[in-house]
Amino acid sequence: MPNLLTLDDLSPADITQILEKAAYYKTNILALHQKAHHLQNRVVANLFFETSTRTLNSFILAEQTQAMTVLTPDLAQSALQKGESIIDTLKTFEAMGVAAFVIRSKDEQLLHLLTEMPFKAHFINAGIGCRAHPTQALIDLSVILKHFADLKGLRIAIVGDVKHSRVAQSQIKLFNKMGMTDIRLIAPESLHLENSKDMIYESYTDIDQGLKGVDIIIRLRLQKERLPQTLALDYDQFKQNFLITKQKLALAKPNALLMHPGPCMVDEDIEAALMSHPQNVILEQVSHSVAVRMACLDYVFNSL
Ligand code: CP
Repeated sequence: MPNLLTLDDLSPADITQILEKAAYYKTNILALHQKAHHLQNRVVANLFFETSTRTLNSFILAEQTQAMTVLTPDLAQSALQKGESIIDTLKTFEAMGVAAFVIRSKDEQLLHLLTEMPFKAHFINAGIGCRAHPTQALIDLSVILKHFADLKGLRIAIVGDVKHSRVAQSQIKLFNKMGMTDIRLIAPESLHLENSKDMIYESYTDIDQGLKGVDIIIRLRLQKERLPQTLALDYDQFKQNFLITKQKLALAKPNALLMHPGPCMVDEDIEAALMSHPQNVILEQVSHSVAVRMACLDYVFNSL
């Protein structure tokens, strides 16, 4: 049964199909306030063990637009609080008829557990640990495709806390799969990736050098909830050096896109003056999220 847990689950052909279907949904279903009925009454459960605004609510909208039956249990009120394991919770929901789970959790072990256990239900990763947030990366690529016809020649800068960002790791894998290899990770030494031989990118600590001539800047927030106590980072220096300002944006190509998966810390990640700048496409990213997540549901249900 197909799952969408990491980018490893997707071939370039799958990615193209998901993005084409998302474009169809955006224009022919969502823009016309219609519903798609081929997954009607399939039961999906959104299990969010961490907070979320964009991912949770866009999945709910995607599921409702697919006419699915949607469960979004309040996990603070579930038997997990009495000591039931996550696996037993999933088996319980599956026994009620849940055919797909959308899961967010800080527990990276879940990625292995979910593939090893004999579930019939499908799983979609809505952000697990530091490693993977594949549907966010697909949304970001969907926006990039709106602005650039030729992906292969693009020069992309990913700036900020690359090391603890599940979005960054999924983006790099997705971009590489689609032939995009000119990727610059820009961060202080202590926030760079380690042990990442399966990804193609270049590391920069000098932001001015890294941003020179790029087509796309993707700024990431500091993942404060996932930082180890031992992290060697001068926070004030980091904020001062890695804030995207008008001057920093001017180092990129004239019409470069300024992206952020959100939530964006204004005046920490990107200066306030750039939040309504014409090159800022952060809300455009959000506007692609429902359609892309509808197509991700189709992928796991083999209905692309
Ligand atoms: N980009 C993202 O995952 O945002 P949320 O935490 O609001 O879902």
